[in-house]
This record gives sequence, structure tokens and C-alpha cells, in this order.
Amino acid sequence: MQQPMLNIAVRAARSAGEILLRSTDKVAHLEVESKGKNDFATEIDRLAEREIISIIKNAYPEHSILAEESGEHEGNEYQWIIDPLDGTTNFIHGFPQYAVSIALKHKGRLEVGVVYDPLRDELFTAKRGGGAMLNNRRIRVTNLTTMRGALVGTGFPFKVPQHLDAYMEMFKAVTLDSAGIRRAGSAALDLAYVAAGRLDAFWEIELKEWDMAAGILLVKEAGGVATDFSFKDGYLESGNLIAASPRMHQLMYQLIEPHVTAALK
Ligand code: IPD
Ligand code: CA
Ligand code: CA
Repeated sequence: MQQPMLNIAVRAARSAGEILLRSTDKVAHLEVESKGKNDFATEIDRLAEREIISIIKNAYPEHSILAEESGEHEGNEYQWIIDPLDGTTNFIHGFPQYAVSIALKHKGRLEVGVVYDPLRDELFTAKRGGGAMLNNRRIRVTNLTTMRGALVGTGFPFKVPQHLDAYMEMFKAVTLDSAGIRRAGSAALDLAYVAAGRLDAFWEIELKEWDMAAGILLVKEAGGVATDFSFKDGYLESGNLIAASPRMHQLMYQLIEPHVTAALK
């Protein structure tokens, strides 16, 4: 059951990726719509999303969908969670770091996840219980056991500035203990990189479900752990996420937890 669904997710992600690539040289002429403070969308986000939805609907007309640009489409207990372009701000600037993210959830459980980087032609895939792959090669989280030497990914809370003070404290703690922090601009790719062992850990405040659903399954299937800031699995609801190998997750949690405010629990 999972494999045919993964195949559809891959087909949809590749097809959307082609749309993004074809549009790269038109970026200077794109009309950018501001959906909110620091929250942008272009006609390309919508075009890529329509392509993904049409491929999914064609194969599974009865499934439901949660997509960033068009919201909820009602259907049965299978729900596809779609971010057609994760890293829109990068895309608009021609900064080469963005991806397509597609996940499938069934009765609250993530079954399939795909993150596709069209610029590098890197396809990250995961099936629940079936491991995580990069271009059909098995990937795993790192086996580092100390913060020293750790490269940590994050995202800035630019859409939720009320959490900036707490975030800066977390940032300080991680900066002082790790080898470095990277803010690359696509949470979906950051999580795929944790799964592939390119990053040792990742944390961010108030992500949306479509930013992280596929990436979280990748991390878990690559041997990693994901929790919210209360060490529980409420991240899909709160959007507060720490993801890493089990050991690095523990170390990250110790650094972050003292700065978690009541509003972030
Ligand atoms: C954004 C990216 C970014 C994260 C933001 C997301 P978008 O998604 O994932 O890394 O920091 O919180 O909104 O808007 O480019 O799809
Ligand atoms: Ca996103
Ligand atoms: Ca997006």
C-alpha cells in the first residue's frame, strides 16, 4: 500500500520540481504576494501546488489534502500534506536552497514522506518502517555523541517575533556549545539533511505542518528522534521542533529546555 503512494508522491514532487527549475530565470519578473509579515507566495508556488494536487487527485480522488497555498481539501482519512515550495524567500532571491515537500498521513500517523531538491536533483524519501533514502541509497542520522563538533540547523522565528527573545537565548546556548549553526532557509531540506547526516541536529519555533511533515518522517526513518519542546510528540500541532539522532536530541534538549517559555510548551 505504501509503495504505490510513495511512487505518486515522488512523481508529484519531481513534476513540481521541474516547474520550479523552469521558473528560476523568470524570478526577477515574478509578482510576489505578501500573505502576512515576511510571508510570501508567488504564482510559481501556486502553479507547483496545482500540479502536485492534480497528480495526487488523479491517483487517489478520495484522499484529503492539506496544502499551503490552497488549504484543506476534504476527503477520507488519508491526508496529503503539501508544501509546493519550501524556501520561497530564497527562491525569490535566486538563493539556491529550496525544495518540494510532500507527506502522507493516515489516521494521525505519517506513512510516506518526500523532500525533493530540484537544483541538486536530490530526492529524499521515506516510508514508515521502511527506512530513509537519498536517491535510492539508504541514509542515517550521524553518530556524534557530543555537542562539540556538531553542525546544527535552525530557522529564525521571523514570523513570530514574540518568541524572538526566547529564541535568542536558545541560539546563544547552542552557539556556545556547538561547532556552528546554519540557517539555510528551507526547513524541509534542513530536516532531510539531518536524516542524511549532513546536519547533526535541527530546531525551530512554530513551523507549519507542511514545512516539517515529510522531513520528520525522514529523520525518524533514518534512526533519529523528533519532539516538541516538552519532549513530547505534539510538534505537528505546536510547530515547535527538535530533531536529531537520539543522543544529539538529548543534548539539544538540555540546551533549549531552560529557555522554553510557557507559550512554547
Ligand atoms: C519557510 C521555510 C523556512 C522556515 C519558515 C517557513 P516557506 O517556508 O521552511 O526555513 O524558517 O518558518 O515558513 O514559507 O518558504 O514555504
Ligand atoms: Ca514552508
Ligand atoms: Ca511554501
